[in-house]
Amino acid sequence: MYKQIRLTDTKSRSTPEAVAVALFENTQQLPMEYRRLDKAVGGVLSAGIGRPEVSLGPGDVTVLYSSPQGKQKQPQRVFVLGLGKRERFSSNTLRAAAAGLVRKAYTTKVSRLSLRLIAGIGNTISAKAVGRAVSDGMTIGNFEFNTYKGTATASDRQGSAKRPSLTVESEAAIRLGLDHGLRVGDSVAVARSLAATPPNVANPAYLVAYCRKMSRQVGLKCSVVDAQRAGRLGMNGLLAVGRAGSTPPALIALEHRPKGAKGKPILLVGKAVTFDTGGYSIKSSVGMESMKYDKCGGMAVIGAMHAIARLKLPVPVVGLVAAAENMVSDKAYRPSDIITMYNGVTVEVISTDAEGRLVLGDAIAYGCERYKPRAVIDLATLTGGVVVALGSYCAGVFCNDQKLKNRLMGAAEDTGERLWQLPLWPEHKRQLKGTHSDIVNSAGREAQPIQGAAFLSHFVDSTDQTELPKTPWAHVDIAGVSDTKGGDKSLYAKGPTGFGVRLLVQTVEAWGR
Ligand code: BES
Ligand code: MN
Ligand code: MN
Repeated sequence: MYKQIRLTDTKSRSTPEAVAVALFENTQQLPMEYRRLDKAVGGVLSAGIGRPEVSLGPGDVTVLYSSPQGKQKQPQRVFVLGLGKRERFSSNTLRAAAAGLVRKAYTTKVSRLSLRLIAGIGNTISAKAVGRAVSDGMTIGNFEFNTYKGTATASDRQGSAKRPSLTVESEAAIRLGLDHGLRVGDSVAVARSLAATPPNVANPAYLVAYCRKMSRQVGLKCSVVDAQRAGRLGMNGLLAVGRAGSTPPALIALEHRPKGAKGKPILLVGKAVTFDTGGYSIKSSVGMESMKYDKCGGMAVIGAMHAIARLKLPVPVVGLVAAAENMVSDKAYRPSDIITMYNGVTVEVISTDAEGRLVLGDAIAYGCERYKPRAVIDLATLTGGVVVALGSYCAGVFCNDQKLKNRLMGAAEDTGERLWQLPLWPEHKRQLKGTHSDIVNSAGREAQPIQGAAFLSHFVDSTDQTELPKTPWAHVDIAGVSDTKGGDKSLYAKGPTGFGVRLLVQTVEAWGR
């Protein structure tokens, strides 16, 4: 795919080599604003409307060719983006269409593309939202991870090959939104690339080194609680899980402290289990290879912090990434071990496969004590149960605070990274009561995603056995959305989605307004 997508202010005077327009399904007549363009491309647009090969279903993309006009050397191309039915239109339709557009533009070797979308879309959504959705879709569609393609792959598909860039010109109205979305898109790609990096490379030590370097580049403060210090601090959940890992576990802190911005930070916490075998409560081999994606919560936090720093958002934010590898060895922790967590809560390990909550519990407790956040948002591929319950079109969210919930739901709506709320009541905490410890890390098959949330609630701002925390806190279980099988109708190619980056960035950005 393209090396880069960049915007230009200069409009080509002639009709550019490729133009993208958008049309709703059942369009009978070309919108007035497209008439001139239609003439310039020899009438292929008006001729195409109503023809069966021009499909205007939501997200469909059709290429039309016109024979060269005047002095133009090459045939001009018109990409027609299908918007589906007007009454069912949403920004996600544009994301799908723009992802398809960039893929088709690449395969048809377009290097300069002119977007003429507003005439077709009209004012169904704001111009800024159009710009963002289109650039989201373009960066999503342009993502490719080929670092590990080798000699058995054609050279232009290998990581090292020189690739062309795409220059995009657009209506002025959507340019701001486009620009913003392309920037955030870079950060989504950061998260997706890290997530795709295999566990024999992306171990906790690798993530530490990556974050240090990335922080210097974008102006974040990076500090690391290494395993030694974690031991002195009593982060025994993080240490237990990571004990058998190929490198020691670590807690990575990324701080964004914009000049002049005072007040408590927002705390983002991500689960980064670089590989989850399940430990002694070992997983079945079927599908275990997808457990490299068990670091996706942490990668979303890294991606979001990358964007927040580069956009210089005027809000203090701290990102914590809890990195550990859950393996089996003579050093590994075992079922029935009792662990004293950072905040003194004791946990009996029922399943070494319920490891995410142990690394997150320590990270959340440490983050709350150290940074006194105004709100906490954690992201984790925490439970298979959330996939059973909600599938893969939304993440599950638990939240103790109406305002925070509204912020997240608003951001979900704006970014198309959907959330669905699940309940967490004080009663749910009872389920986790331990026999010889305060709590257990797993209590059977009932309501597993809620058990995960109830467990984490012990680490937010107090150690109360029955009450929910007072600090506004949201737990987002992304097990169903962090990676995808791909396929024709999928917005994302097979692999990681970067889910959470846009959601978090949008939440923080709207907070600053
Ligand atoms: N990383 C898994 C959850 C997961 C499952 C993510 C499938 C993505 C796809 C997590 O650590 C886990 O193993 N959870 C257990 C919890 C159980 C032992 C209480 C689960 O969901 O089965
Ligand atoms: Mn597990
Ligand atoms: Mn896990």
